[in-house]
Amino acid sequence: MTDKRLAEGPIRVALLGCGVVGSSVATMLTTHAADLAARVGRPLELVGIAVRRAGKDRSELPVDPALFTTDAAELVTRADVVIEVIGGIDPARDLILSALKHGASVVTANKALLAEDGPTLYAAADAAGADLYYEAAVAGAIPILRPIRESLAGDDVRKVLGIVNGTTNFVLDKMDTTGAGFAEVVEEAQALGYAEADPTADVEGFDAAAKAAILASLAFHTRVSSADVHREGITEVTAADIQAAKDMDCVVKLLAICEKTGEGDDVGVSVRVHPAMIPRSHPLASVREAYNAVFVEAAAAGELMFYGKGAGGDPTASAVLGDVVAVARHKVGGGRGPGESAYADLPVRAMGQARTRYHISLDVADRPGVLAQVATAFAEHDVSIETVRQQITDNGRANLIVVTHTAPDAALSATVDALAALDIVTAVTSVMRVEGS
Ligand code: HSE
Repeated sequence: MTDKRLAEGPIRVALLGCGVVGSSVATMLTTHAADLAARVGRPLELVGIAVRRAGKDRSELPVDPALFTTDAAELVTRADVVIEVIGGIDPARDLILSALKHGASVVTANKALLAEDGPTLYAAADAAGADLYYEAAVAGAIPILRPIRESLAGDDVRKVLGIVNGTTNFVLDKMDTTGAGFAEVVEEAQALGYAEADPTADVEGFDAAAKAAILASLAFHTRVSSADVHREGITEVTAADIQAAKDMDCVVKLLAICEKTGEGDDVGVSVRVHPAMIPRSHPLASVREAYNAVFVEAAAAGELMFYGKGAGGDPTASAVLGDVVAVARHKVGGGRGPGESAYADLPVRAMGQARTRYHISLDVADRPGVLAQVATAFAEHDVSIETVRQQITDNGRANLIVVTHTAPDAALSATVDALAALDIVTAVTSVMRVEGS
C-alpha cells in the first residue's frame, strides 16, 4: 500500500557526501527538479547534505546553504531516499544500515563496501523492505548492472569481460601509443588528473577487483566478494610486454574477467583481474584513454558491449540519479524493485583452475635441440602449444614466442617456472595471458 504521506508530499532525499560526485548529484537534483518530479510522480525534496567540514565555501552549488550538516547519522533518519557518495567502509556502512533500518531506500556508488560486505547490506534492505541500488558503483555512467540484473534475467550469462578502471586504461593506452614505460606514463596521468597522487587502488587492481566482484555476483546469482577475486595490477607491465602484444597485433588491457566454468554438476565461477593481451580486432581493444567498457557473453543474447565514461562527477551522478528516480518511483507506487539474488550459490574457483592462454616470450640459445627442450617443458605440464615464432637475435641467440592453447592457469604458470629453470633459456622476457580470441 502506498505510504499516505508520500502520496501527499515530496519524497525526502538525503545526500551523504559532497565531493566531486556529490556536488554533481546536488546540482542535478536542483536544476532538473521539475523533470525529476514529473518522472517520479512526486517532487524530490533535498532535505540535507552531510559533509565533513561545515565551513567550506560551497557557494557555487545551487543549493540552500542551510542544507549542509555534519550530522549524517541524524540526517539518514529523516529521509525516504538516502544517497551515499562518501565512499570507503566506515562510516558509510553504518549510515547505510541506519538509513535502511529507518525505512529509507538507499542509492550508493560505494563499490568497496558492496564488494567487501554486500550481503550484510542486501540482508538489511530485505529486512526493511527497501531498495538498495548501486548502478554507479561499476563503470560510472555506463548502464551495466541494471541490464545484467533485469534485461538479461531470462538468459544465461556465461562471461563478462570488463575494462572497468579508467586510470589503468589511460596508462596502458599511453604505453601502447607512445612506447613509454609504466612509471613515466603514471606521472603524466597524475599531472593530467587521471591518476590519484597515491595510485595504488587503481594500478594494483583493487578498484577493478571490487567491480569484478559486483559484476560476478549479479551475473551468476552467487555471492562473490573482493577477497574471492584473483587480482594482479599493471605495475609489472613493461614496454617489452606492450611491444610483444603489438607484434601479435594485440593490445594489453587490464581486464575484469567473470566467467562461468564447467558444465552440469561441475559448474563454478572464475573471477579475476589481470592484464591480458586481446586482439586489436576485439571490440574492447578500441576502448581508449580513460573510457570503460563491459563486454557480456550470454547464451541466447550472444555478445553485447556497453561503453562510456567510467568516472567523473557528472557521468557518475547520471547513474546515481537514474537509481534515485527508480527507487523513488517504487516509493510512490509501493513495493520494491528487483534486487540481487544469490540462489545459484556457485563455487568460486581458485585462479589455478581458471582456463587461460599464455603468450610467453623467451631468449634462448640458438643451437640444435633447444626447441625440443622448450616443447618438452610444455608437454610435461600437459599444455598444448598453438603457435611458435622464432627470431634469430645477436650472438647465437634467438627469441622464441610461444602462444598456448587454453589450459589451467596453474599448469601454464608451472610451465613458465620450468622454462625459466632451463639452461638454454637466458630470460623469460614477457609472460601475458591472452583473452578474447
Ligand atoms: N578510479 C576509478 C577509475 C574510478 O580510474 O576508473 C572510480 O571507480
